[in-house]
Amino acid sequence: MSTIKDAKLAELGNEEVAWAARQMLVLEEIKNDFSKNKPLEGLNIGACMHVTKETANLMLTLKEGGAKVALCASNPLSTKDSVAAYLAENDIEVHAVWGVSNEDFFIHLNSVLDTNPDITMDDGADLVSLLHTERVDLPIMGSMEETTTGVIRLKSMEKNNKLRFPVVAVNDSDTKHLFDNRFGTGQSAMDGVVRATDLLIAGLNVVVIGFGDCGKGVAERAYGMGAKVTVVEPNSVRALEALMHGYEVKTSINAAKIADVIISVTGNLHALDTEHFDVMKDGVALANAGHFDVEINLEALKNESTEIERVREHVESYKYKGKEILVLAEGRLVNLAAASGHPASVMDMSFANQALASEWIKDNHEKLESKVYTLPKEVDIKIAATKLSLMGGELEILSDDQIKYLDSWEHGTS
Ligand SMILES: NC(=O)c1ccc[n+]([C@@H]2O[C@H](COP(=O)([O-])OP(=O)(O)OC[C@H]3O[C@@H](n4cnc5c(N)ncnc54)[C@H](O)[C@@H]3O)[C@@H](O)[C@H]2O)c1
Repeated sequence: MSTIKDAKLAELGNEEVAWAARQMLVLEEIKNDFSKNKPLEGLNIGACMHVTKETANLMLTLKEGGAKVALCASNPLSTKDSVAAYLAENDIEVHAVWGVSNEDFFIHLNSVLDTNPDITMDDGADLVSLLHTERVDLPIMGSMEETTTGVIRLKSMEKNNKLRFPVVAVNDSDTKHLFDNRFGTGQSAMDGVVRATDLLIAGLNVVVIGFGDCGKGVAERAYGMGAKVTVVEPNSVRALEALMHGYEVKTSINAAKIADVIISVTGNLHALDTEHFDVMKDGVALANAGHFDVEINLEALKNESTEIERVREHVESYKYKGKEILVLAEGRLVNLAAASGHPASVMDMSFANQALASEWIKDNHEKLESKVYTLPKEVDIKIAATKLSLMGGELEILSDDQIKYLDSWEHGTS
């Protein structure tokens, strides 16, 4: 029995899911194949993902493969109630309602685990965490992880010999992180900032904290919109890369002093803290695009503010030591909370990886150890080639002589 807001929203959900499907043609090919071959027959799959129109297409693909699927939200603010209603109507057990309390959020996670999944799928390792604390009794064949922050948690569990089943780090497939994190987060995080504020980005000082795959995407899109981009990054190679891209590279304190907009995307704790709030300009807007809402120390900001007011949807104004600091989307993922998350076309590749990872776990789990795995390279190559051709790109084919030349060590200056 599903937990959703309103079953009457299913028709709207249907339209949304169909709209995303138009851009998810790699996944559609997999769905057609799953429909014929039923590789997931007899499996229970439990997923904790953003409940969006794109995720819905993944859930329906898994169902087409023969699996019984249960889904809960990986973030209460990203749930689309219409999508949840549509999935519930289509034999997916859904436990997700937009904006639920933390307590209900965990009740929903546990409801998914109550379906006794053989395979779980996470975006942030929340199910896996429960499976290693309160629900250690549940036997699991394997799991999949969608995002960088989840993979970091899982690798730490592996290192400390705590992991009790194999996990596929879907995030680490090239066709996931090089596209979803970069182009998906880049576009949708800027979309979230603009939808929340209606600011003209051109001419503003936009600070991007963290220059990983996501930060690169956000910096590129902000730059493309005419912002003066400053990057904050502790890794010297990445910082240098940012500098050679033409961005300013500064410490977080110096960047905070000049910023009009700051977007944090580090996956780390308190990238913005009291020492930064103290030096910020009046009216600065802060957003987070990292997985958890820990990047801006909101507790400290709250404690030191004399007044907190919601000034428009997705914007809270903090009166802090004589100035105003604006926080977007309550410091949660700005691209999902204030915009529509990643565009379907990029989720197509991420979710093609997820669908194929479930099949790979089913076929290989008996020989896998309790470790973090990446999918075989051939999967990446196949997904990229399919997407390239669907998008009208042409792949160069090397001649036999060229392949031989590249493989040999004897050839040099002639
Ligand atoms: N918004 C989304 O939809 C979305 C999509 C994918 C990933 N994510 C999340 O975004 C975060 C970043 O992901 P990524 O793939 O870019 O990770 P990444 O590891 O490639 O990059 C993170 C970067 O932040 C830097 N960093 C760490 N602490 C910092 C600090 N205090 N100040 C400045 N820089 C710091 C690191 O050196 C690194 O270069 C993760 O939490 C990930 O789960 C969000």
